[in-house]
Amino acid sequence: MASTTHTVWVTTGDKKHAGTDAHVSVRFHGDKSSTNVIKLDKFFRNDFERGQKDTFNLSTKEVDDINHIELWRDSVGLKDEWYLDIVEVLCRKSGQKFVFPFHRWIKSGYHYRIRHLDTSLPSDTDPFKEQREIELAEMKQLYEIQAQAPGLPGQVKNLPSDENFSDDYQWDILTKKINLKLTSKIQEHFTGKWKNLEDLKNIYTKESLFLPDSAHHWKEDEYFGSQRLTKVNHSVIRLCTAIPTNLAVTDDMVKTIIEGLSLQQAIDAKRLFYIDYKDLEGVPCSGDRMLCAPIGLFFVNKEKKLMPVAIQLNQKPGEDNPVFLPTDPEYTWLTAKLWFNNADCSYHQAFTHLGATHLMMEGTAVVTNRNLSRSHPVFKLLAPHFLYLLAINSRALGELVSPGGWVDKSMSIGRLGMFEIVRREVRKWRMDVQGTLPNDLESRGVLDENVLPGYLYREDALPLYNIIKKYVGDYLAIYYDSPQKIQGDKEIQGWAQELVKPVAEGGCGVQGVPGKGKFQTIDELTICLTSIIFTCSVAHAATNFAQYDQYGFPPAYPAAMNGKPPADKSPLKEDCVLNALPDKATTLDTMIITKILSDKGTNSLGDFEVQYIYDPAALVVVEEFRHDLKKLSLLIKEKNKQRCPRYPWLDPEEVPNAISI
Ligand SMILES: [Fe+2]
Repeated sequence: MASTTHTVWVTTGDKKHAGTDAHVSVRFHGDKSSTNVIKLDKFFRNDFERGQKDTFNLSTKEVDDINHIELWRDSVGLKDEWYLDIVEVLCRKSGQKFVFPFHRWIKSGYHYRIRHLDTSLPSDTDPFKEQREIELAEMKQLYEIQAQAPGLPGQVKNLPSDENFSDDYQWDILTKKINLKLTSKIQEHFTGKWKNLEDLKNIYTKESLFLPDSAHHWKEDEYFGSQRLTKVNHSVIRLCTAIPTNLAVTDDMVKTIIEGLSLQQAIDAKRLFYIDYKDLEGVPCSGDRMLCAPIGLFFVNKEKKLMPVAIQLNQKPGEDNPVFLPTDPEYTWLTAKLWFNNADCSYHQAFTHLGATHLMMEGTAVVTNRNLSRSHPVFKLLAPHFLYLLAINSRALGELVSPGGWVDKSMSIGRLGMFEIVRREVRKWRMDVQGTLPNDLESRGVLDENVLPGYLYREDALPLYNIIKKYVGDYLAIYYDSPQKIQGDKEIQGWAQELVKPVAEGGCGVQGVPGKGKFQTIDELTICLTSIIFTCSVAHAATNFAQYDQYGFPPAYPAAMNGKPPADKSPLKEDCVLNALPDKATTLDTMIITKILSDKGTNSLGDFEVQYIYDPAALVVVEEFRHDLKKLSLLIKEKNKQRCPRYPWLDPEEVPNAISI
């Protein structure tokens, strides 16, 4: 028997219908010579099964300098599909190993030619140019973009089967709800109204549906202040440089609250901050529920804690719209804070979470698949950060944001209000401002770490932003050694055009993309890709995983309120607060859904589920990225030992690569 010249490993993808019974043939091509046609076949064994790695020892013509593989299959077998992950080839004589990442469905009869490492920019002199163009033309048919309704971000028209969840990560909310009810031994008889505020805590169990930490602090002003800095809606607070014109606050009202200072003195000392929800005016609500469009004023006290100073629940000042103060009767002030938080969580769920991460990134993922070949280095950089994004959006919108679904039942705004907020805010979202963390912080006047102490989102998100930016910049430098290479990259320029093209014309409609649809420099591309990776990982993690901590105890963050907001300062009683809060059944539903939404089921940032990058130079950059993340993780863990409360949400170990939930 002839001795083995090459050992070949073929890995079939772990996807539905990925395996094949077809006969597979290959040829290895070197610079000077090629092998004969080799049939990859093992007698009496079922090759190319889903998720399987098959080994073949071959005896063929010696070719040591393989630069590409030619691979094809026939159409034998019942299943006419094969998803090939990767082919690895070891030349026995030289000991050289070659890697051919396919990550493609292999159609019968077509000869695929994949280079060693399969990483290249498009080029007119590329001998495989036609294959690249055919594949992209197919992707453009598969990934079409459209908005669900006018004004909403673009989404994929039909979910391609490749975007579905794997068997290991099935996200089925109905099954999860049933399982959670069973494992938590929650009682179905939690219906009706609450007896008193303490009764609110009686619904929780020791297991999965535990009492969130927010339940212990929800009445405290200090906690209310910290919700702006360390919880799910972390990026709406602004430095106050002038009192908002609609806010009827006066020096006399707040002098004792802001340590004897005048409002101007507090402004000059950069100790006054505000949140203005004027954009919520007139947003439709579910049923007869109501939503405020409040303005909140906050002050950093001597202990460096952010404290609420004044809340006006609606925009137009007047007798029926007073400025509520911490010095007002206890339950009146508490009720004002509840209505403020109801507006805050409406904005959070609609825009900070759904609009600015899930939906904005879906369009980006779609145009990436349409414009960048699987061989393009930028496709390989971005792909891990889009894992299950299209699938979760399709599932979540279908099940939670559907007519009569969870959002309609459990949130004041309901589905239509949610879409209206997305519509209003998406018009203002710019990649180079809200999507670029340092610019976002600067635009809100809070980039300086001496301004707004205790802003833990900023403290942990900024180093993460810088680590991602360094990773992206170092990675791009491998492939683009001059601006001309970017300017001449047809795929990246086509991608840039579709990113900025209006949704109605089949684009993504993103504003503020550096270069405005034409990348001129590596810096512009770096900022853009950093924004996408940061949004898919850090921005989503910060706004997603603390949902149970917040919504799981509705008095701390009420998604729905009953009745009307207070229109005067007359003292309220405990039962007024109780009556305004969601009933037991709604509370239980909110607990269960937000618990499911807060579960992390995918890998941490840098630990990619699918390995797309094999280029040794790029692997060095990936390793540095992982090293930087590990170092930051240790630092944040150390910091969290001193922090009270802890801020675990942006420890890189807790941040997934993608928006998968
Ligand atoms: Fe999410």
